[in-house]
Amino acid sequence: MTTTVTGASAPDSLDIDSRYEAAKAIAQEAARLGMDFYARRSSLTVMHKGGNLQDVVSVADKTLEDFIRAQLSERFPEDGFIGEENGTAALDARCIWVIDPIDGTSCFVNGLHSWCVSIGLMIDGEPYLGAIADPNHQELFHACLGQGAFVNDIPLKAHAAQHVREGVVGVGTTHRRGKENFIPFLTGLLDEGGMFIRNGSGALMTAYVAAGRLIGYYETLINSWDCLAGLVMVKEAGGRSSDFFRGEGLLEGNPLLVAAPGVYEQLAGLIGPSLDSN
Ligand code: IPD
Ligand code: CA
Ligand code: CA
Repeated sequence: MTTTVTGASAPDSLDIDSRYEAAKAIAQEAARLGMDFYARRSSLTVMHKGGNLQDVVSVADKTLEDFIRAQLSERFPEDGFIGEENGTAALDARCIWVIDPIDGTSCFVNGLHSWCVSIGLMIDGEPYLGAIADPNHQELFHACLGQGAFVNDIPLKAHAAQHVREGVVGVGTTHRRGKENFIPFLTGLLDEGGMFIRNGSGALMTAYVAAGRLIGYYETLINSWDCLAGLVMVKEAGGRSSDFFRGEGLLEGNPLLVAAPGVYEQLAGLIGPSLDSN
């Protein structure tokens, strides 16, 4: 399918299709590279960011991000970047790639299989396409505005739940900010007969909402590289999301709720006003 977008700044001239194909191919190639590191993870030196023992990183994260950025720069030299490990470049470009080379690094270093490579593209300030590669489960989630969302070749659709008791909600939190909102949310969810799960990868949990595997996913504070690719999938699969990009969300993060349409309001109510405050 060829992408057509209405409006004066329609990005047709930007060659959306090439960028979509590149996102998918490079995410999968980076995921294969990640598997090489994963196989010898016990020999990797694990470092801690900002003295936080829970915020881990290894040479694998940096190597994968360098690889992804080099591949994208070669094909699309005019595009900008936001990446977890290497920071930002050319933020005034119309196309900005938003990259998490390994989402779920804590899982990665501890031998848990829920980690992935996430590559999203923002065009003129709007999340436009994304690819999330999960090599342990041979799944490539991907979506482009107007073209639907898929896992491998299977179309994705958000869950049909009308009440939180009808499915499972993914959750996450951080020691950095917002953790005080976490336990009250869990209490409210359990009181309503709901249930939660945390797999350690915000990108995968966002994709799972698009896939209808989870009815929702709430994180008290998350970064754009964790969720931008998944947000396109949720939109294309008929799900809803909170206004993640308000304020400094793109560069500094915000709380995030993504959910099936029938339970979005209920989950937002259980979270309360902190969902929309900075
Ligand atoms: C983290 C994961 C985790 C979420 C954290 C993120 P990382 O990313 O997505 O699920 O709870 O907020 O920082 O550090 O593994 O790339
Ligand atoms: Ca991440
Ligand atoms: Ca990461």
